[in-house]
Amino acid sequence: MQINPDEITSILKSRIEGLDAGSATLTEVGTVLSVADGICRVHGLENAMSFEMLDLPHGVVGLALNLESDNVGAVLFGEWQKIVEGDTVKRTGRLLEIPVGEALLGRIVDPLGRPLDGGGDVLTSETRPAEFKAPGVVQRQPVKEPMQTGLKAIDSMIPIGRGQRELIIGDRQTGKTAIAIDTIINNRNTGLVSVYVAIGQRMSTVVALAETLRENDAIDNTIIVAAAADEAAPIKFMAPYAGCAMAEYFLYSGRHALCVYDDLTKHAYAYRQMSLLLRRPPGREAYPGDVFYLHSRLLERAVKLNDELGGGSMTALPVIETQAGDVSAYIPTNVISITDGQIFLEPKLFNSGVRPAINVGISVSRVGGNAQIGPMKRVAGRLKLELSQYRDLEAFAQFGSDLDADTQRTLARGERLVKALNQGERQPLPVADQVIQVYAATNGFVDRITVERVPAFLADLVSAAHARHQDLREKIGAGEWSDETQAALRAAVSEIADDFGYDLDEEGQPLDDDAAPALANGAARSASQNGVAAQPEPEPEPEPDRPEEVAA
Ligand SMILES: Nc1ncnc2c1ncn2[C@@H]1O[C@H](COP(=O)(O)OP(=O)(O)OP(=O)(O)O)[C@@H](O)[C@H]1O
Ligand SMILES: [Mg+2]
Repeated sequence: MQINPDEITSILKSRIEGLDAGSATLTEVGTVLSVADGICRVHGLENAMSFEMLDLPHGVVGLALNLESDNVGAVLFGEWQKIVEGDTVKRTGRLLEIPVGEALLGRIVDPLGRPLDGGGDVLTSETRPAEFKAPGVVQRQPVKEPMQTGLKAIDSMIPIGRGQRELIIGDRQTGKTAIAIDTIINNRNTGLVSVYVAIGQRMSTVVALAETLRENDAIDNTIIVAAAADEAAPIKFMAPYAGCAMAEYFLYSGRHALCVYDDLTKHAYAYRQMSLLLRRPPGREAYPGDVFYLHSRLLERAVKLNDELGGGSMTALPVIETQAGDVSAYIPTNVISITDGQIFLEPKLFNSGVRPAINVGISVSRVGGNAQIGPMKRVAGRLKLELSQYRDLEAFAQFGSDLDADTQRTLARGERLVKALNQGERQPLPVADQVIQVYAATNGFVDRITVERVPAFLADLVSAAHARHQDLREKIGAGEWSDETQAALRAAVSEIADDFGYDLDEEGQPLDDDAAPALANGAARSASQNGVAAQPEPEPEPEPDRPEEVAA
């Protein structure tokens, strides 16, 4: 066939003629140079931006991370195994975005917002950038509202405020996740929206967790973002950013959000894996140098916004797993220094039956104190000190009666405080009930009860308060701590303590040697109560050790 150059020119001209300069879109297209382990190198995307989404065949999404002089290193989401050398890669011009919105509530999704729970599509059209610049100082205000966990040990001594970043750190199987879940359950009716980000956990664990939340009516205001252990590193890397973006949707609409990152150690592992594959230079413990920046960028997005911006808040509870309690490893030290305090959990305490197994001595909350309600602040004032004194002297306990009276008293009090702060899983306590229990414990009302019976007494306190002192509970819950309230509380607690009965006299000696073992059996409460009623009580009024410390 003869081709006439004029013909070709005229065809080309006719094609170009109708073209309006503005309507043409220019896409930059590159080709895959190499692909392995969920990472690819692309040639020909000179203008790609960091964190830009890339379009690949088979619905695979790429994320440009390494911008080098002759190629772009990108991580791949989706069925990256289908990508081969020479495939075309298109720039999208958009930075990575995550679907957000109300529709995600009650769902388990992957970091790209795709459902994992078999519950159908997530119907939302809104998106937010995965990486978002954290608000500056001017846009913030100090943390001032409490974010109650429902756990006595935390709300009394390590209070967390809305907008705070509080680290939960400890070895494996020390109850880290349990604290986060109890917090979510405790806030099911407080207008707090929770996002739980599971990184590198088994999918069965995540499903069981969702089931727990469902049983406790907390699933409807929770979003679960899961990047399971068997997922590729890029997916795990994305998970906290996705969760954060989803929480930010609520934050910037003036609401309150809680974001749990469980856990950032595995996130750091995923980032290390990705970075080594991308051939970034390894640093300490083979992590890339910017792993600190990675986590600080993420946690800095937790905020209490000022009122002009709606006053919303996002609280972050990152979780870090340590190896044999080594808090001085690289990732733990990093995250400790980024957060506003840490809750440190210890296997030794956990195994000795302290639940939650919090080491009070090295756990702190640097900003939450301002957010604590007044009554709690007052009654818990001495708690931390008394517990620390007890831990100091604990080793001497074996000397028993050889110790001086003061030491014995500190030990007896400490034992009871530890028992009083114990709390089972999934049993978050409203703050008013916490105040009543902590008040009783720190004001000597438990000193004349055997340690074994302390939980039964505290349970009695709460049920009696619910039945007979509802108005007092409401006042305390609302933060009132006037002299009348204190007097009413003291009267109520002593009355309940009297009803409950004592096992020990003022000196801490058993009232009756035969009765003591029977009394120690806390389960046989009514029986023991009858037993006590049969005994002539030498002193009906309890004589608290330090009656005025609360008023101080
Ligand atoms: N307050 C509690 N009372 C009773 N049991 C608890 C309490 N807190 C945690 N547990 C139990 O301790 C175990 C470990 O808890 P959890 O899974 O929360 O720990 P973890 O530190 O998150 O573990 P992992 O390192 O595997 O993530 C669980 O079996 C849980 O039921
Ligand atoms: Mg866990």
